[in-house]
Amino acid sequence: MDGVTVIDHPLVQHKLTIMRKKETSTAGFRRLLREISTLLCYEVTRDLELTMERIETPMMETDAPILEGKKLVFASILRAGNGLLEGMLELVPSARVSHIGVYRDHETLQPVEYYFKAPESLSERLVIVVDPMLATGNSSIAAIDKLKERGAKNIRFLCLLAAPEGILNFQSAHPDVAIFTAAIDSHLNEKGYIMPGLGDAGDRMYGTK
Ligand code: URA
Repeated sequence: MDGVTVIDHPLVQHKLTIMRKKETSTAGFRRLLREISTLLCYEVTRDLELTMERIETPMMETDAPILEGKKLVFASILRAGNGLLEGMLELVPSARVSHIGVYRDHETLQPVEYYFKAPESLSERLVIVVDPMLATGNSSIAAIDKLKERGAKNIRFLCLLAAPEGILNFQSAHPDVAIFTAAIDSHLNEKGYIMPGLGDAGDRMYGTK
């Protein structure tokens, strides 16, 4: 699929399978999510630009590569996005963080926004939006609408699982935003859950069901 990168690294696929199992505990699910998020972060940042900096090692001066430009922004769609955020911040501790509160009305499946906080200068930063599940796509579309209103221009979207219907919806709203996912599942059910999926990601990571 154009504009979608499936991160098929064997470690990602193995961990994802264990996360999908209904018998995986809350603690296990959370630990795997943290581990998988560092692997996903590695892939979503693979082509970041570098610049050379003059440094001094204990032996001599040399030119060495460092990340170019302003600090990255990780934008977490609450609440499940926070599960991906933690592992990503371990890899990129200097990243700035945006929190976007959007929940899905279970009747209409439409997004309802209740919180938005983002760092300054979004227009000069790469913004990586994180949410484990790209289901209908409505919440992520709403979150990215808001980030764009605040000036963000260079945006990527990272999830664990995506449904084909969600990808189509997302790409018709935001064709400029590349999607990174560990898997594309079969379809959405009538309640908007990804099939075969892993259930409600927020409930599974926080033990709320
Ligand atoms: N959100 C989830 O947590 N799971 C789904 O299957 C769909 C949306």
